[in-house]
Amino acid sequence: MRIIQAPSTNEAIQTVATLILEKAISHPRSVLGLATGRTMIPVYAHLEKLQKIYENPFRDCFFFMLDEYLELPEGHPSSFKSYIKDHFVKPLGLKESQFAFPPADLSGGDEHYENLIKESGGVDLQLLGLGLNGHVGFNEPGSLKSSRTRIIPLTEDTLRANRDQFTDKIPTHALSMGIGTILESKELLMLVTGKAKADVVKYILNHHDDPNCPATYLKSHPHFTLVLDPEAASKINLNI
Ligand code: GLP
Repeated sequence: MRIIQAPSTNEAIQTVATLILEKAISHPRSVLGLATGRTMIPVYAHLEKLQKIYENPFRDCFFFMLDEYLELPEGHPSSFKSYIKDHFVKPLGLKESQFAFPPADLSGGDEHYENLIKESGGVDLQLLGLGLNGHVGFNEPGSLKSSRTRIIPLTEDTLRANRDQFTDKIPTHALSMGIGTILESKELLMLVTGKAKADVVKYILNHHDDPNCPATYLKSHPHFTLVLDPEAASKINLNI
């Protein structure tokens, strides 16, 4: 596990954006896993600036989305599909055909998304945020390390944390790549910013493979980079 403690929130964001950009430049046909959430909005805004300098480095990439709410009609403004269109697809001039979204209907079998990922050759770099309760994607506490893409009931903590993203009722269930799915990515890149997440960051560093905090599972990945801003890192001391 590599930890990058950035000297400011802006530098944490720029570090993450640069690592994503470098992947696309070094491997133009990269398969990238993308995350949503408030944390990632400035990352995508920075990528928009960078890609103008580097002349559309993502044009030959393919993208898998990490998670999505269930029960939302197509085009709902609070869906992660709308989020990624607004913050990444449109501003960077990408094509929707470069993206795969977790299917809202798993009645055809929940292996569909997993198979798409496998057929693409697997995710080269998976971008990840962190839930206040240690969730990754929507893998809530209690998720198994071996879990696959599935429907997950959201905890009260997550519903509370994300309620302000909805003007109407927040969905009670979501679809997420599983922890086992995420761990098959060749590289993991997690960005955590803000004081509210300082406790969970400390918990992750002090615990291993703890089902109460699914982010602890990621530490066993050979190429896991955790980028922290000063506030998120405020309760850890890496010098001990
Ligand atoms: C959400 C999403 C995650 C996201 C995380 C953090 O519930 N399921 O994919 O990374 O929680 O969100 P935020 O960045 O808004 O704190």
